[in-house]
Amino acid sequence: MNIGKLYGIGVGPGDPELLTLKAYKTLKEVDMIVAPSSREGKRSLALLTVERIIKERENELIVVEPVFPMTKDQTKLDFYWGKAREEVLEKGKGCETVAFITLGDPSLYSTFYRFLEIFKDVVDEVEVIPGVTSFSACSSIAKVPIAEGNEIVSIVPEANDKSAEVIGRSDTVVFLKPKNVERIKKMLAGSKAILGIKIGFEDQELVLENLDAIDVPDHYLATLIVKKEEEE
Ligand SMILES: C[S@@+](CC[C@H](N)C(=O)[O-])C[C@H]1O[C@@H](n2cnc3c(N)ncnc32)[C@H](O)[C@@H]1O
Repeated sequence: MNIGKLYGIGVGPGDPELLTLKAYKTLKEVDMIVAPSSREGKRSLALLTVERIIKERENELIVVEPVFPMTKDQTKLDFYWGKAREEVLEKGKGCETVAFITLGDPSLYSTFYRFLEIFKDVVDEVEVIPGVTSFSACSSIAKVPIAEGNEIVSIVPEANDKSAEVIGRSDTVVFLKPKNVERIKKMLAGSKAILGIKIGFEDQELVLENLDAIDVPDHYLATLIVKKEEEE
């Protein structure tokens, strides 16, 4: 199989209405959609987001949901990436255009660029279509700006010794899938917090609270935005 054009599409945080027009039009036309799933038997959240568009389509479409596990175990990663490549190349025979869909934006902690690396020998052309990030969606629903004026924002995947300095210097810190919550609370005590869980999905939850009092569940689709200002 040779992929004439590969699209990396950000489908936004989960609400289909937050898809860009460009993403919508492209998803209506491509021959194949590759939707990453985090583990065997688990539906891809990105695919769930674009389900309606797929149902509306009248032209033929091939959909695959390979597993891209969230692990640092290289043997496991090599196994699953090899399996994904085989599946895409086998099922995509005859497909000219392929869309790899990802939650939020493809430039932010997404598997898209890794996918591109693995498939670059069979891809002629690439186009990346940006998406609404999870934290933009959280901020919009909370109606609280992420930053104003000359405020500094950082996006932190983990509160640890490496990120401590950046956290200390930032006015707003965005934590994706917050870990080490007790450490975050110690470092940013007294700050205002916005916690978004499954934002954009039907059962979304949004909590606006002082960081000291907030209860952060261990949920994959949780985003915590902390603003260093006293709550009014
Ligand atoms: C691997 S990162 C991908 C980020 C994504 N590319 C983006 O632009 O938002 C996954 C993390 O994004 C956040 N996230 C993605 N979608 C979300 C949603 N609908 N609600 C809350 N947080 C979300 C969570 O912190 C999750 O652990």
